[in-house]
Amino acid sequence: MTARLTIDGVFTTYDRVDVLDDITLEVAPGRITCILGSNGAGKTTLIRSILRLTPPHRGSISFDGRKLDGMQTHDVVSLGIGCIPEGRRIFSKMTVEENLRLGAYRVSSEREIRRRLDGVHAVFPRLAERARQLAGTMSGGEQAMVSIGRGLMTDPKLLVIDEPSLGLSPLFVQENFNVIARINATGVTVLLVEQNVNQTLAIAHYGYVLSGGRIVAQGSSATLRDDPELQRAYFGAVH
Ligand SMILES: Nc1ncnc2c1ncn2[C@@H]1O[C@H](COP(=O)(O)OP(=O)(O)OP(=O)(O)O)[C@@H](O)[C@H]1O
Ligand SMILES: [Mg+2]
Repeated sequence: MTARLTIDGVFTTYDRVDVLDDITLEVAPGRITCILGSNGAGKTTLIRSILRLTPPHRGSISFDGRKLDGMQTHDVVSLGIGCIPEGRRIFSKMTVEENLRLGAYRVSSEREIRRRLDGVHAVFPRLAERARQLAGTMSGGEQAMVSIGRGLMTDPKLLVIDEPSLGLSPLFVQENFNVIARINATGVTVLLVEQNVNQTLAIAHYGYVLSGGRIVAQGSSATLRDDPELQRAYFGAVH
């Protein structure tokens, strides 16, 4: 299991305007790689490009040496790329367990589904306690757990996460980052898209800075953290 994602010269367009402009990056197996960027930088578009929800019109994306170009989204997921979408997208009128099961809707073996549910419950015991509660009645932090759990139910080699800390209280934000680090420690490669610079760099190994649809900086987390120019120019930090 390697889980290397390679993005090579990707351009993605909405209404003929390039939102991603020649993106080249790599997600190393076993690591947490982050994409930092402010509102409108193109972070979600990059994720949609990887999952082929908004396919790029130029360039190439491959996973473990296999080109994703031309594939359907469900085929990309079947290769082992799981996604936790922006805004969580949970189904509020369905129970917690029904939401989780959606992540494994293409799996027919009940035994395999149970095995995955057990894995999710090990990470989030509360989701086992609340299996029959309607997801819409869970708290914001608990709904974040449901969303991450549903992503894990695809049994991903690579988990792509879009702004998991959005709308959470500071305590839950930190808890969320801890959970992502723990998931990574179990061997799942992570691509984490965030605006929360310092907490992201604290758990990530390598990062890219996206601005106006271009990669404007990259480096190890320590390098990015210690670069005052970057902090000022792109992260709005006052030093
Ligand atoms: N469906 C769409 N049609 C037209 N333009 C779009 C569409 N989706 C996004 N855009 C534009 O593409 C640019 C990048 O959007 P994107 O959602 O990728 O940004 P982001 O970095 O995820 O921002 P945020 O942090 O606010 O989620 C923005 O200018 C946005 O208005
Ligand atoms: Mg976004």
